[in-house]
This record gives sequence, structure tokens and C-alpha cells, in this order.
Amino acid sequence: MIGAMRDVIVAANWKMHTTPADAGELASTIASRTREAGVIRVICPPFVCLQAVAQAVADDDPPVAVGAQNIHHELVGAYTGEVSAPMLAGLATWVILGHSERRRDAGETDELIGLKLGRAVDAGLRPILCVGEQLADREAGRAGGVVDEQLAGALERHDPTALAGAGLVIAYEPVWAIGTGRNARGADASAMADGIRASLEQRGWGSRAADVPVLYGGSVTSTNIDEFLAEPAIDGALVGGASLKPDEVAGIVARAGMTARARGGAR
Ligand code: PGA
Repeated sequence: MIGAMRDVIVAANWKMHTTPADAGELASTIASRTREAGVIRVICPPFVCLQAVAQAVADDDPPVAVGAQNIHHELVGAYTGEVSAPMLAGLATWVILGHSERRRDAGETDELIGLKLGRAVDAGLRPILCVGEQLADREAGRAGGVVDEQLAGALERHDPTALAGAGLVIAYEPVWAIGTGRNARGADASAMADGIRASLEQRGWGSRAADVPVLYGGSVTSTNIDEFLAEPAIDGALVGGASLKPDEVAGIVARAGMTARARGGAR
């Protein structure tokens, strides 16, 4: 599949790391070391660090986007400890949804993730929808089927035109590769990216499926990023552990810059 027109994206998922006191400095260090034309950079810190990061990168050029790691599926109400999409106004323009750690720890289902997706779109947040199989699924040859089901569950009831308009990004993150130091093979990630677009195509997306950016995530480092970005079907990375290390992010974004230049720049 030719990826000539798709955005090249490197998104940093800081997970439950950093504090409001140190997040801004880390964000500015990363921003200053990753100014690659054509690469969309996104930093997703914990909620309490969104403001510090947004302020720290406000004047960076090319711009650095700020994302949240989750939102609630309702807009307002008696939901102790939760944050809704409209509350992110002025703080974040992107959001990660359906991360496997939330599926595991917060019991998020595909249906719930689908509700969150609608809230994200309504609030003008660009969603990164995470999908990925468990090790047992891959070993049993079920990886493609599991990811197809995750997509079906989260995307049903959504109008493809609205999601495409919101710039939906899919992150393929095999669960067994997250935080384990064991990354997928580039060829397998590429085959999954093709499968993801085929699944969208069959579910009413038609030719728009080819325009959806697919990122790889799972133990991405500056050393293995080439394996993924060498694949035309892969449009970037969702990076966890390595995204807290400026040297690592610099290497990853530099490699993404090569892809962006080869594609003639992002839209
Ligand atoms: P990792 O995390 O890079 O630490 O494996 C990726 C992710 O969970 O998004």
C-alpha cells in the first residue's frame, strides 16, 4: 500500500510519569531536539501535566501537539476522578483511546471505547485508537481477527466521514510488545496495517481507508524504529518508555523525518 499522502506521526505516551514541576522542561527539551519538517509530533503527558506541557511547547515550530491519554465517555456528571473531552479545551488537541493498559486495568471494552471516540470527535480532539492482540492470540494465528473485532466494536455506529474528518489515527500495539523490550517484526506490523485498512474498507470506509494513518507501538526505540518506518504501510510510532528519553525521541523523530521527506512532506 502506498503511503504517499498520509501524515507521518510520532506520538509520545508518557503514561504515569512526570509531574507538573518537571514535565514542561522535558517537553521543551524534546521539542528542541525533534524539529523535523513534515513530522507531526504529539506529546501525551498525564492530565495534571497537560498545562505545563502545553505552555512549554506553545511556540515551538513546527508545532508540537499535546494529547491526553484518556477521556471519559460522558460529558459531565457524577463520575468521581474522571475527565471529559470538553474539559481538555485549551489543554490538548489529541487523545489516546483504548490503550491496552486501560483495557486491562480499567476494563475498557470496545463498545466503551467507541463511546469515547464519539466524545473525542465532538470535542474536536484528534483520536489515536489503540488496537492489538495478546501473545496467545498471535501464537494461535488469531491476531488479525482480534484486531478486526476491536475495530468493529469501537467503530460501529460511527460515520466514517466524521471519523476521517477528525483525522482518526490507528495505533497497532501488540500487547506482548508493550513495555517488554520485545518488539514486533516490521513485516508483521506492516501486514497488520494492511489488515487494519482492509477491515475499515469493508466496514463502510471504502477508499478512505487508504488515507488512515497507522502507527506501530510496542517497545519502539531509536534503534528499532527503522524496521517499522521502512514499511510503507506504517506511518509512525506511538512510543512509551523511550518517549521519556530525549536522545531516544530525537533518534525516532529523525528517522520519521526521512520517511516524511521520502513522501514529499506531510499534509
Ligand atoms: P512502550 O509503550 O513503548 O513502552 O512499549 C508503548 C505504548 O504503550 O504506547
